[in-house]
Amino acid sequence: MSTIPMLQFALDFITLPPAIAVASKTAPHVDIFEIGTPLCKAAGLEAIRAIREVCPDNLILADFKTPDVGWLEAKMAFEAGADLMTVIGGAPMATVESALKTANEYGKEILMELTGVRDIIAYAKEWRQVGIEWMVYHRGWDEEASNRQWSQDDLDTIQRLIDMGFKVTVTGGLTLESIPFFQSIPVTALITGRAIHAAKDPVASAMEIRSTISRLWGAPQPDYLSPTGNSTDFDIAAKAIRWGISEMDLLLTTDGTDCPGCDAHGHFCQGTKTAIYVPQGINADDLVAAIEGIFGPSNAFGKVNHEAFYLDPAQIAGYSAARVIQLLTAAGNALTGLGHRIDLNAGLTTANQVLNF
Ligand code: 5RP
Repeated sequence: MSTIPMLQFALDFITLPPAIAVASKTAPHVDIFEIGTPLCKAAGLEAIRAIREVCPDNLILADFKTPDVGWLEAKMAFEAGADLMTVIGGAPMATVESALKTANEYGKEILMELTGVRDIIAYAKEWRQVGIEWMVYHRGWDEEASNRQWSQDDLDTIQRLIDMGFKVTVTGGLTLESIPFFQSIPVTALITGRAIHAAKDPVASAMEIRSTISRLWGAPQPDYLSPTGNSTDFDIAAKAIRWGISEMDLLLTTDGTDCPGCDAHGHFCQGTKTAIYVPQGINADDLVAAIEGIFGPSNAFGKVNHEAFYLDPAQIAGYSAARVIQLLTAAGNALTGLGHRIDLNAGLTTANQVLNF
């Protein structure tokens, strides 16, 4: 089963208002907001507090790149609302340990920032011993400007860190074009700053990057076994669900419009499971419980993560086209019951058309 990397959006601004504006718009498409180092320096803890207030459902990382007095900076970041904080790789071990001790007290995380660290693996062994679990593998802006390219050495080092047990996040001028370079490794998060905030349409850019990550790393695939249906039925049912869901104005985590129809991992044509973003303001567990209340217990639906749920007609026991419509209806009614307005009729009409085609 593959794990889809989180998308971290680095708010590298030098004033707070544009950071608040873009964060509130992109929040549904982002897992972690990074209070970028320039913003930390410009607006300080106020930036963390403000983003926490406008984006209550996202994780927040304070990119302090702390060099000393680890416990105090960690305490300041976590009390302001951050969930994660970076310590610079060159910091003394005493600083790493004091920041980590504070993070443990608050139930939060410290990430080692690898900018400028020459012997990453040797340092990583020491950090591992004191209990560090996360790190940021970073090609700095200045390095990028002096033409440092991503290379196989980077991939090898990141994979070694993951093999040592670290959760590795990767950053440094990542774009839609460069993200596929990392596809072979199970990174925990991909971080983009300029690719989103400098884009003409930051929301569209965040959505496109998110759907590209989902497509490249692939959604977890279930076993497609059912006593009564066959693979052709399931494929058509999956299409009915995707079209129906889209007609209801809900968002699929993989954008099928660009799917080239190959059998690459994670593409729609390979499986019958459809992952759908949970609308903002709704809790994924509540939604799944509400679907179960209507449809009954089944593996045909479930939670993907805190922001997505899935529908999978191949898992319907006693499969029939009518049960597929019941599944879609249950999802629609559950959403309506939780206060989200959708056009259920439009979704069901389209799904019926596909099923009866
Ligand atoms: C710079 C940073 C940036 O936040 C990080 O590089 C992400 O931004 P971008 O995608 O624009 O490179 O930490 O030191």
